[in-house]
Amino acid sequence: MYNKFECFLGLYIGSPPNPGGCLFYLMTMKKDELEFQFISEPSDVNFGGKVHGGVVMKWIDQTAYACASGWAEAYCVTVYVGGIRFFEPIQIGEIVKVRSKIIYTGNTSMHIAVDVFSRHPLKQKFKKTTHCIIVFVSTDENGRPKPVKKWIPKLRKIPN
Ligand SMILES: CC(C)(COP(=O)(O)OP(=O)(O)OC[C@H]1O[C@@H](n2cnc3c(N)ncnc32)[C@H](O)[C@@H]1OP(=O)(O)O)[C@@H](O)C(=O)NCCC(=O)NCCS
Repeated sequence: MYNKFECFLGLYIGSPPNPGGCLFYLMTMKKDELEFQFISEPSDVNFGGKVHGGVVMKWIDQTAYACASGWAEAYCVTVYVGGIRFFEPIQIGEIVKVRSKIIYTGNTSMHIAVDVFSRHPLKQKFKKTTHCIIVFVSTDENGRPKPVKKWIPKLRKIPN
């Protein structure tokens, strides 16, 4: 599926903010697209017992940051987050998948579509929980906008 494929599998044990616990993460990447997978933790909880919306927004920002920086090969900052839609809640202990894709580049900016999915660890099928658009700007060593290479959309064959 991936032309350029990179994959990292990690394990943290007993380090704050995850004392005594462990977190697996998986990252797959091609040039204009990046995906994180991990398990939602008890510390991600909101007042209703599910994953806090602010935590989901942090995951979106982190994944999109990694996608933008990889494309720009420079430090990038968020300038805009919009159109966020929470379709379904995420339960604590579910496998979470956050996927960022570049959908437009300007002179210095990258528009990124982010989709979040989750699934019960004993089931295979992910459900889409959240979507948003986020814009990053590539910056130089003085924190000023720096041009990025152009992203050109490719036609994809839609299966029958
Ligand atoms: C990013 C920053 C350096 C840009 O400086 P600036 O003087 O606003 O630069 P510009 O007006 O030239 O805008 C830069 C790019 O951002 C885009 N941009 C600015 N506001 C935007 C918005 N609301 N939505 C989408 N794009 C926007 C511009 O269109 C431009 O893109 P382009 O070069 O592809 O055409 C500055 O705004 C900044 O430091 N912002 C704070 C970033 C931050 O702290 N983020 C949170 C933590 S990461």
